Amino acid sequence: MLGLDSLTRVALELRRDVRAARDRDPAARDVGQVEILATWPGIHALLAHRVAHALAGAGIPLLPRSISMLARAVTGIEIHPAARIGQGLFIDHGAGVVIGETADIGDNVTIYQGVTLGGTGFATGKRHPTVQDNVTIGSGAKLLGPITVGHGAKIGANSVVITDVPPNSTVVGNPGHPVRVDGRRVEGPDADWIHLPDPIAEAIEGLASRISALERSIAELSHEHDAPVAEVRRLRPSRGPNPAGG
Ligand SMILES: CC(C)(COP(=O)(O)OP(=O)(O)OC[C@H]1O[C@@H](n2cnc3c(N)ncnc32)[C@H](O)[C@@H]1OP(=O)(O)O)[C@@H](O)C(=O)NCCC(=O)NCCS
Repeated sequence: MLGLDSLTRVALELRRDVRAARDRDPAARDVGQVEILATWPGIHALLAHRVAHALAGAGIPLLPRSISMLARAVTGIEIHPAARIGQGLFIDHGAGVVIGETADIGDNVTIYQGVTLGGTGFATGKRHPTVQDNVTIGSGAKLLGPITVGHGAKIGANSVVITDVPPNSTVVGNPGHPVRVDGRRVEGPDADWIHLPDPIAEAIEGLASRISALERSIAELSHEHDAPVAEVRRLRPSRGPNPAGG
C-alpha cells in the first residue's frame, strides 16, 4: 500500500528533479528552488508522475491515470503512470513530450520538448525505449520501439531512432545513425571504389595462365623445347588519386 516510505521517496525524487533543472537549464541559474517548483512545467509533470507511479504501484485504480491526464492538460507532457523514471530527469519546456507505458529512463537524463518515447505499432509487452543514465534527447526526437539508448548518448534534435544507440555516441538523422562514438567521427562505408576486385580481369588472367600451361604441355609432347610460351602479364589495379576521395 501507499505509505510514508512512498511519500518520502517521492519527496526525495522531487528534490533531485528540481536540482537537475537548476543544473541543466541555463535559464534557471539565478532562480530559486521554490520558483522552479512553482513555474517549471517539466517539474510539475514529474511531480504528477512520481505520485501517479506510486499510486499505480500500490494498485490504486483510476487515480493514477486521472493524475497523468490532468498533468498532460496542464503541461503538455504525457507520461504513462507505469513508465519507470530514474532520478534527476530534466524535461525542458516540455510541450509535446510523450513517454510510453513500458519506457524505462535511467538517472540524470535530459529531454527537450517534442520528444516521443513511443512504440512502433500495436505490439504488447515491452515496446518502448530503455534510456540509460546521462542521456540527452534533443527537441522533436522520436525514439520508437524497445530499443536501448546507451549511457551518455546524445540524440540530435528531430532524429527518428529505431535501433539501439551505442553508449557515449551522438545519433542524428532519420533513420537515426551514430555520427560520433566516444567523441570520434564514425568511419563511413569503404569508399575506395577504384580498387574494387575486377572479376573480368581476374577471369582473363586465369585463362591466360591456362593457355600458357597448355602451350608448355604441347611443347613438351611435341619435343619442341624451344617453342615460345606466351607471357602472362600480371594485371595491376589502376593507380592514382581516388575520385571518390576515400
Ligand atoms: C546532437 C547534438 C546534441 C550535438 O552533439 P555533439 O556530440 O556535440 O555533435 P556535433 O555538434 O559535433 O555534431 C556531430 C555531427 O552531427 C550533425 N548534427 C548535429 N545535430 C544534428 C541534428 N539535430 N540533426 C542532424 N545533424 C546534426 C553535425 O552537423 C555534425 O555533423 P558532421 O559530422 O558532418 O560535422 C545537438 O546538435 C542537438 O541536436 N542538440 C539538441 C538540442 C535541443 O534540442 N535544444 C533545444 C533547446 S530549446
